Amino acid sequence: MFRLNRTSVIAGTAVVTVIAALSYALTGVAVSRAAAEDKAKAAPVEFTADGKLKRPVGYRKWAYVGEVVTPNDMNDGEAAFPEFHSVYIDPESFADYEKTGKYRDGAVLIKELSSVGSKKASSGNGYFQGEFTGLEAAIKDSKRFKDEPGNWAYFSFGHKYPLKAEVSKNAAAACNQCHQDNAKDWVFSQYYPVLRAAAQKSM
Ligand code: HEC
Repeated sequence: MFRLNRTSVIAGTAVVTVIAALSYALTGVAVSRAAAEDKAKAAPVEFTADGKLKRPVGYRKWAYVGEVVTPNDMNDGEAAFPEFHSVYIDPESFADYEKTGKYRDGAVLIKELSSVGSKKASSGNGYFQGEFTGLEAAIKDSKRFKDEPGNWAYFSFGHKYPLKAEVSKNAAAACNQCHQDNAKDWVFSQYYPVLRAAAQKSM
C-alpha cells in the first residue's frame, strides 16, 4: 500500500515551492524582455505631445537601402536635396518588406544628406562624401496620418547643421505629391538596390 510519511510530504512541498519560484522568476524575465522588445518595435521615432516629429536618432544602425547623389555641379549649383542621400529603413519594416514586398503601417524611411567633399581620390575621379548636412523622414501611419495621401507624412529637419530638434509635417503639396506621382507606394524603391533585392525575395 502507498503511504506518505511526513518527510516525503515536506520534501514534496519544498520541490513544488522551488519549481513555482523558478517559473515565476523565468516568466518575470520573459515578460520584461518582451515589454522592452515591444517598446523598441513600437517606436523607431518619437513625437511631441503636439504631434511634431523629434529628430530621429539611431537610424545609422538601421537597414541601409541605398545612396543617391544629386551633386550641385550637375544641378545649376544647387540641387533641391544636396548632394549625397543615404537612405535607411527601420529594421522591423525592412524584415516585413522582405516577407511582403510592401511598406507596413509604421514604416519609417530616413534620407540623410551629406555634401560632396572631394572629387578626386587615389581610386580615381568621382564624388566622395564630405560632411553630414541634412535630414528628411517619411513615415507611413494610417492612424496618425489618416488624411495624408497613402498615409505617408514627410518631415524635413533642414539642409544645414545644426538641424532642427523637432518639426511639423510638411504640406502634401511640398513633398507627398511628387512621391505619389513618381514612386511606387510613395517610396522610390527603384533607386534602392537593397530594397529591389529584398522585394524579389518576397515573391
Ligand atoms: C520633385 C520631387 C520630390 C519632392 C518635391 C520631394 N521628394 Fe523626396 N524624393 C524624391 C526622389 C526622386 C527620391 C529618391 C531619390 C533621391 O534621394 O533623390 C526621394 C526620396 C526621399 C526620401 C527617401 C525615401 C523614399 O521615399 O524614397 C525621403 C525620406 C524624402 N524623399 C523626403 C522628402 C521630403 C521631406 C520632401 C519635402 C520637403 C520631399 N521628399 C520632396 C523626390 C521628391
